[in-house]
Amino acid sequence: MGRLDGKIAVITGAASGIGQGAARAFAREGATVGLIDRNAEALAATAGEIGDAALPLVTDVTDEASIAAAFDEVRRRHGRLDVLYTCAAVQLIGEDAPVHELDIDVWQRTHDVNLRGVFLTCKHGVRLMMESGEGGSIINTGSPTGLTMSGAGWHAYSSSKAGVMALTRIMAADYAPYGIRVNGIVPGTIATTLTKPLIDDPETYAKLVAGHPIGRVGTPEDMVGIALFLASDESKFATGSHFFVDGGLSVR
Ligand SMILES: NC(=O)c1ccc[n+]([C@@H]2O[C@H](COP(=O)([O-])OP(=O)(O)OC[C@H]3O[C@@H](n4cnc5c(N)ncnc54)[C@H](O)[C@@H]3O)[C@@H](O)[C@H]2O)c1
Repeated sequence: MGRLDGKIAVITGAASGIGQGAARAFAREGATVGLIDRNAEALAATAGEIGDAALPLVTDVTDEASIAAAFDEVRRRHGRLDVLYTCAAVQLIGEDAPVHELDIDVWQRTHDVNLRGVFLTCKHGVRLMMESGEGGSIINTGSPTGLTMSGAGWHAYSSSKAGVMALTRIMAADYAPYGIRVNGIVPGTIATTLTKPLIDDPETYAKLVAGHPIGRVGTPEDMVGIALFLASDESKFATGSHFFVDGGLSVR
């Protein structure tokens, strides 16, 4: 028996990294998974690998019409949504900067995907959950940069993630009466496309490893356990919390 047997889930940013790892795991545990990403080619490859349990939905999370169409497709096929996991985000490494040097376009592009995208995804995901009347679990992806000095130098990214974490908590309060739980996952540095420019630079990589008391950076597989816990009924008393799976990064 799978831990997510019979559940209908949607994951954004499902074509890469943490979202892709979760998509594989959710399907393995019995869920049907709507995969949202704007990268059509990578999305098709991920869906092809997962097989029948995957529903690829090429979507730009910054575009409300695109997001609404994706959830309409889930509504049409399944009539409900049990789990929503938002992973789509960008980090404009090399362009993000402290505010006095930060280009407004970099701020806007970062906040468009990371905060507006989570808002729009939650807006249409919550509607579908409310329609079924059976509640659900929403998982948003925060970051230590939204809370600690690990975001130093990245003022657009850090503030976008702090916004997501605030939205997560207030949504938890307002949707609890509908049986909709809303929690956040806070990953440490995870080796993905997002962090490749940092990890590929030996000096930066050494600093990143040293910043994690556990002595290494993480992998998308390291983030699977917490996502399965929050997606499943095992976490039925958890809402409004942030779950740090960060190799101890936030302890510093
Ligand atoms: N990797 C880390 O170290 C780390 C640390 C803390 C938090 N996070 C967060 O974890 C989440 C996943 O990050 P990752 O490292 O797996 O990143 P990733 O770059 O590997 O994957 C992100 C995916 O989001 C998609 N995406 C980007 N913009 C989109 C848009 N407008 N519409 C639809 N899809 C879009 C990309 O195509 C990509 O497939 C993000 O929210 C990120 O901020 C990552």
